[in-house]
Amino acid sequence: MNATAASCPVHEGRDDRKSARLADANLTPQQGARVVHGFAAGREILRSPKVRQAGATAAEADLSKPDEISFFFLDGDLHRKRRAAVAGLFAPKTIVTRHQAVMNRTMDAIVADLQQRGSAPLDELSWQMAVDVAAEIVGLTNSDTNHNLANRVKAVLDSSIQRKPGLINKLIFTAKMMVRVGRFWKHDLLPAIEARRVEPKDDVISYMVKENYSKKGMIMECLSYGGAGMMTTREFIVMCAWHLFEKPDLRERFLTGGEEDQFAILEEILRLEPVASLLHRRAVETAEGSQGGDMTEGEIMCINLRDANTDEAITGPCPYELDPDRAKRMKVVGPYLSFGDGPHRCPGAQVALHETRIFLDRMFRLPGIRLVSEPEVIWNPQIQGYELRGAVVACDPA
Ligand code: HEM
Repeated sequence: MNATAASCPVHEGRDDRKSARLADANLTPQQGARVVHGFAAGREILRSPKVRQAGATAAEADLSKPDEISFFFLDGDLHRKRRAAVAGLFAPKTIVTRHQAVMNRTMDAIVADLQQRGSAPLDELSWQMAVDVAAEIVGLTNSDTNHNLANRVKAVLDSSIQRKPGLINKLIFTAKMMVRVGRFWKHDLLPAIEARRVEPKDDVISYMVKENYSKKGMIMECLSYGGAGMMTTREFIVMCAWHLFEKPDLRERFLTGGEEDQFAILEEILRLEPVASLLHRRAVETAEGSQGGDMTEGEIMCINLRDANTDEAITGPCPYELDPDRAKRMKVVGPYLSFGDGPHRCPGAQVALHETRIFLDRMFRLPGIRLVSEPEVIWNPQIQGYELRGAVVACDPA
């Protein structure tokens, strides 16, 4: 019988998700937020002009100083203007004509390094790819050495949550953060700004220099690209690799299929394993939704992407099964809501998919490539998402 995943009764109960158990145990919507589980209602809210960003530290963002905060926290005309100014950096043509060269160059270095060392932590390799690509888009290309840029960004982002409570810990935490941000400013951001004052380029820093952003504004914008673009992609690459190492048929399909099929596989993995799980919005008006996205003025809504992405109304049966043909069959965008939707939808979605595709395509073709140690899934409460640590890959020497 040629059964499809959508109709096959033998697949009942199958759950291919690797991050779901930990997410179920740890997901913490903002206090007082109403959780929205359905895909149609969630998408309607994210697309509504009657909501404002309420995720991350939006409540603390000082909207009266828009040039000191990332555009992630802005809405309306100012948000549109700031996004439009950098939209070209994420356009499909720019990816092909400019970013793919960075992706291939980085992958050459990663492959040479892996073949020479024999084995390496996978998240270290995926981090290098994520940093190099985002650094090119942002314009962080004048650092003393790029490897140090990756380490300095990592130091700031990894330590950006105060893990221990109490005043003394807060002081220690703040001091450490200031030192790390100071190093990033001195070695990475300031040289890039000075270079662009002399010769502007097509990148985020050139735009910020032209618009006279404050020092704080520039640091905030760069770090939000770091969090939004680097940390997410690092995890996504490791998650896809883990699925492909584990499933020989899927790996074979990935390596023999065309680009379109490769993207379908990656997007389906992202549907099941969204790196960001919750998006928050605040209603500025009471409104009735036609898809269930009703809201009351002042209400905070939490869109649960994991539930929305596995809503049978839009996935068809067997929603927890990894089925790369699903999106096409259901006529839905492949990653479902994993890149968000509406005005804040991830501008880097295509960039992330391309770099992941190139990374995996090159890595899985290496002679002797194997996963010698599986990752541990851990929870990052700050981004309300998973992190995969401890995966080690090995390959034959060149
Ligand atoms: C697999 C990798 C990625 C995932 C899962 C991801 C996910 C997301 C999601 C869910 C949002 C929407 C946030 C919201 O609506 O509140 C978002 C926004 C954003 N992402 Fe990504 N992202 C990824 C990669 C990237 C990359 C590579 C970049 C840039 C180099 C990037 C830059 C951004 C920015 C700047 C925003 C804020 C957009 C706005 O507020 O208008 N992301 N991302």
